[in-house]
This record gives sequence, structure tokens and C-alpha cells, in this order.
Amino acid sequence: MNILLASSEAAPLAKTGGLADVCGALPKALAQLGHEVALIMPAYRSTKKYPSEPTGVELRVWIAGREVRGTYRKCQIPEIGVPVYLVEHDMYFDRDGLYNNNNEDYADNCERFVFFSYAVMEAVRLLNIPVDILHLNDWQTGLIPALLSIYYRDYPEYQKIATLYTIHNIAYQGVYPASAMALTGLHWKYFNWLQMECYDHLNLLKTGIVFSDGITTVSPNYAREITGNPGGCGLEDVLRSRRDVLWGITNGIDMDEWNPETDPHLDTHFNLETRTEGKLECKLALQKQMDLPQRTDVPVIGLVGRLTEQKGFDLAVELIYQKVAAGEDVQWVLLGSGDPILENRLRELAAHNPQNVAVSIRYSNELAHQIIAGSDMFLMPSRFEPCGLTQLYSFRYGTIPVVHSTGGLVDTVTDLTPETEKDGTATGIRFSHADMEGITWGVNQALDVYRNRPELWKKMQDTGMNLDISWRQSAEKYVELYEKIRRHQPRQ
Ligand code: ADP
Ligand code: GLC
Repeated sequence: MNILLASSEAAPLAKTGGLADVCGALPKALAQLGHEVALIMPAYRSTKKYPSEPTGVELRVWIAGREVRGTYRKCQIPEIGVPVYLVEHDMYFDRDGLYNNNNEDYADNCERFVFFSYAVMEAVRLLNIPVDILHLNDWQTGLIPALLSIYYRDYPEYQKIATLYTIHNIAYQGVYPASAMALTGLHWKYFNWLQMECYDHLNLLKTGIVFSDGITTVSPNYAREITGNPGGCGLEDVLRSRRDVLWGITNGIDMDEWNPETDPHLDTHFNLETRTEGKLECKLALQKQMDLPQRTDVPVIGLVGRLTEQKGFDLAVELIYQKVAAGEDVQWVLLGSGDPILENRLRELAAHNPQNVAVSIRYSNELAHQIIAGSDMFLMPSRFEPCGLTQLYSFRYGTIPVVHSTGGLVDTVTDLTPETEKDGTATGIRFSHADMEGITWGVNQALDVYRNRPELWKKMQDTGMNLDISWRQSAEKYVELYEKIRRHQPRQ
């Protein structure tokens, strides 16, 4: 099959979160199954660090009565392993951030991704990319299935294309005032509650859901949650109406990038056999790096993530204050950036508790690796979590995840219970509510096992490290769905 994946980010070229990890790793896994795969994304400033060549092909798009020109570059890097087409338009994409700067969204985001959406459609014919499956991701590509069925379908290059639309996070919908319809170039008749309109606004995620042939999200449990309230964030009805073509496929991980035996961000490497000593070395290195007292006998709890309401860092901050006030001997290492109010709360927390808390407010892939490797536990008090990748990375490094029972965290973390202890399947601790009671219970439970039941702790580490969480299985599931939507595609 010929598969073209369109995404607004892909690691390592450009990344703000897990979407990039997925779109950077899934293409390679699909190619390894024998398919022809290419990726298309915007040529952001961060992509310019990587080698690429001009294609010499120019595209022209009409946006609100103006002709906008761009070009395509082609880039081939081993980390991604398939050809990447970069849509170049410096005024739109050569900026400090991908979607925002200083936590403020760019005012022209709708226009930028309308342009990108047309650029993806045009790439098929201008660059002669054979496509059976167009795999789209999140709101930034939501317009594409509409463009395909409304404008492009009748041209021969497009007749056979089936679209799969993956929702990575339904909280971000690409919602714009009705007047933004003019940017899309589509007739106003599509601005209705069954298609592109939602509460009087243009909704690009809804557009993608309505016009695509198949829809997936990044875990089966999240697929269930988003067809209800509040999980669907207002789109539950439209998702229910498309239930017959909605599936959940759990993300895999890039086993090369997140590998404790070879990780270039670590000074000490380890595997299943050497992990006890290896992790202690990583822990000491992390403590040193973060200016915490270097001690092997204290539990270290790590957190890494975007600082948004979703991730529940506010609950962790509250818990840390309580634990420190109670004199509990625990070290905390936090890495994140985002909401400026939360950023300040984290800085304050660290300033008041330098013996127990270290905080880094920035984006650092290297430090993310070091925290996941050097911590004993990894805390995810997410209010919702479509899949979550950092708990999967934690498994590989023998770090026990302590998570709220939501979304993909339910599908991926096997909670410690008397049964899972007995059958040896437990991989982490899950708590039922994203509130102070829940997080306190979860962390206490984990600390208790860590301190008092070292054999059980080791067993959980082993089970996590032995899990097969590579992309292969998930990629096979995507291929099954691609085949299914191709067969059901009405125009074929
Ligand atoms: P989400 O996509 O909602 O942000 P995921 O768990 O799927 O959540 O993926 C988050 C990804 O972003 C992980 O690879 C994580 O390591 C990375 N990440 C998040 N914040 C930071 C940060 N401040 N520095 C480095 N990596 C980060
Ligand atoms: C989203 C979700 C996260 C998921 C990631 C990759 O950003 O918040 O849970 O792992 O996409 O699919």
C-alpha cells in the first residue's frame, strides 16, 4: 500500500508533544511491514537544522481571494526512515514556535493550517506521490478530508484515496469564528451542524471526523471515553454518529530512541540484568545534575510534561508541599513548560524546598530521558490522557508509573492488585480520581511498595521492562484498518 501521513509535527524534526513521537515513529514501522510510506509536514524553523533538498516544485493556493505561494523540500533522515516532504512558506512556518509563542497562539493559525491542508492535497499531484491511504492527524489536518471529497475526488490521482483520521487529543479542536470559513475556500453550505460548524464556530477537528473514511484515536479506552460526556468535549454526538468507523489503537514507542542500553543521553547504560546498579548510577547522576543531595536511599519521583490543565501538575505541586511539610523523605524532579502561572508555581515550589524538589522549566529531550531513567517512579496525574507515552518510556527504564486511571493509562498500565500481584502482571499503580485524595493514595501506595516490598518492586520493574511496546503490533493494526477503509471506500 502507498501511505502518505500528514502531520503538523514529527520527531525529531519538530515536536511539542506525543503527536511528534507518533508521527516520527509510525512511518518507519509501516515501512518495515513492506509498505511505501511518506510523511508531509510544515517546514518549521526547527526543521531547517536537518539536511533537505528543494524539489523545485512550487504550489499556489487561493486563500480568501489571495494567491499564496509555497514550495516543497524533501528530507530523508535515518530517525524517520521514510521520505519527508516539507511544505515551505517562511512567513507561516519560520517562527520560534509551532503553534504559539510565549504561550499565546499565533493569530493566523487557521490560515497557516488551511494552507498546509491545501499543500498536502496539491503534493499528491504536483510531486506525483502515489497514495492509497492518506493518514491525517489532529485538528491541523482536519480540513483535508473535506477538501478531498469536495474538490479533489474527481481527478484521477485522487479517486482511490481513502482517509484515516487519527485524533490524538480531542481537547484541541481548531475552533475559529464563523468568518474563518472564508479561508477554507469551501462553500458556506458546509457550515452546518452536521459538517463543519459547531456552536456557531468553524471546527476543524469536527470537519475531519465528518469527512474521513475511518477514524482512530490512540487507545481503545479513550475511543470509548470520547463518545461520551465529558470525554468528547462537545463532539461526542458526532463521534457516536460515526461509531461504526471509530477505533482505538494504542501507540507504540520508538524502541531505538528509548533504549536504556544505548541511550546517548545517559552516562550509564543498563538492561534487565544490570538495571539495579545501572538505575542507581542514573539516579545519582540525575541528583547531581539537578542539585539535589546525592543519595541512593531516597525514592525519586519524576514528572515530565506540557504544563497544561490536562497533565494535572497542579495536583502534584499541592501533594509535594504536603509531603515536604510532613517531613517525608522523598525527592521530586519536575520538567515542563507551558502555562506561565504553573511555571511560576513550580519555580516557587523548588525555591522553597531545595533539598527535596528540583524543577526545570524548559523543553529538554535530554533531561526527559535522564529523568525517566534516573527516577524510581514516574507520576502522571493527568485529568485525561488519550494514550500517554511517558509511562511507556518509563516501563523500558524500570521506572514504575503512578497514574490516574484515565484514557490510555488504563490500557497500558496494569494496576497492582492482589490478583495482578499473584499472576505477576502488575506494572504500576493506578488511582481512580484526579484529585488530592486520589494522587495522595496513589503515591503513598507506590512509596509503601518501594520501601517495604522490594521484591515486589523488582518484579514490577521486570514485568514492565519485558513488555513488547514496540510500534510493530500497532502498525499491523493500522494496516488492517487501512485495508478495511479501502474496501469500504464508496468510490473505489
Ligand atoms: P502529550 O502528547 O499530551 O504531550 P505524551 O505522553 O503522549 O503527552 O507525550 C509527551 C512527549 O513530549 C514525550 O516524549 C515527553 O518526553 C515529551 N515532553 C513533554 N514535555 C517535555 C519537556 N518539557 N521537555 C522534554 N520533553 C518533553
Ligand atoms: C496527545 C495526547 C497523548 C498521546 C499523544 C500521542 O498529545 O495528549 O496522550 O500520547 O497525543 O498520540
